[in-house]
Amino acid sequence: MRKPVIAGNWKMHKTIAEANNFANELKNIKLSPDIETVVFAPFTAIKDLAEIFKGTDIKVGAQNFHFEEEGAFTGEISAKMLKEINAEYVIIGHSERRQYFGETDKTVNLKLKKAIESALVPVVCVGESLDEREAKKEFIVIKTQIEGAFGEIAGNDAEKVIVAYEPVWAIGTGKTATSEQANEICAYIRNLLKEKYNEEIANKVRIQYGGSVKPSNVADIMGQSDIDGALVGGASLIANDFALLVNFKEK
Ligand code: PGA
Repeated sequence: MRKPVIAGNWKMHKTIAEANNFANELKNIKLSPDIETVVFAPFTAIKDLAEIFKGTDIKVGAQNFHFEEEGAFTGEISAKMLKEINAEYVIIGHSERRQYFGETDKTVNLKLKKAIESALVPVVCVGESLDEREAKKEFIVIKTQIEGAFGEIAGNDAEKVIVAYEPVWAIGTGKTATSEQANEICAYIRNLLKEKYNEEIANKVRIQYGGSVKPSNVADIMGQSDIDGALVGGASLIANDFALLVNFKEK
């Protein structure tokens, strides 16, 4: 069975002090043990968060990294540096990185290889823009992104990857894909993985939905057959709201 994973993506929010306040609040709230819980924090906050969450099941991740081991890449951060501050997960190819920072399917693939090699759990983001959906190109866009990301990745590594389907038009807009729309694409992603690898591997990969997930719609989204979690931006910034997302079953 796939363990659902609910993750907060803080983006460029929270100073160290703000992050620590959040963590101290969250660790005092009882969270469902059935859900893998991850906080993707700014680099500066990761070390403290990992320390505060020690002894809990809450994991910490980074929102980006560079695929090279080290070198002359001003402003970048390596997998080794992230491991050193106890990040265990990393987001790869978020649409904001693709849109504003030139991330491509090629760099996503290089990062995915490096994350696997470094034993960081990768969350690979894919998703179509509004124009692409209106032109009915969402399936081909997703296919290209998935094939690009998983190029030369072996099956036993692929099964450890988390994929996040995040339609760009639903991110931070308040417009959520209907749970059926989200599930349709997540099922399609699983089918692509089945074609590339096999059914057993495809059935192990966890596929999250992301885009305006909030306490009021999380249960509906999580109730879908091929959705195994949520990647949450805005609604993950307040500890109580984030806990409501993780504890959606108890509502
Ligand atoms: P949102 O962001 O929940 O604020 O729409 C999701 C994301 O970008 O991961």
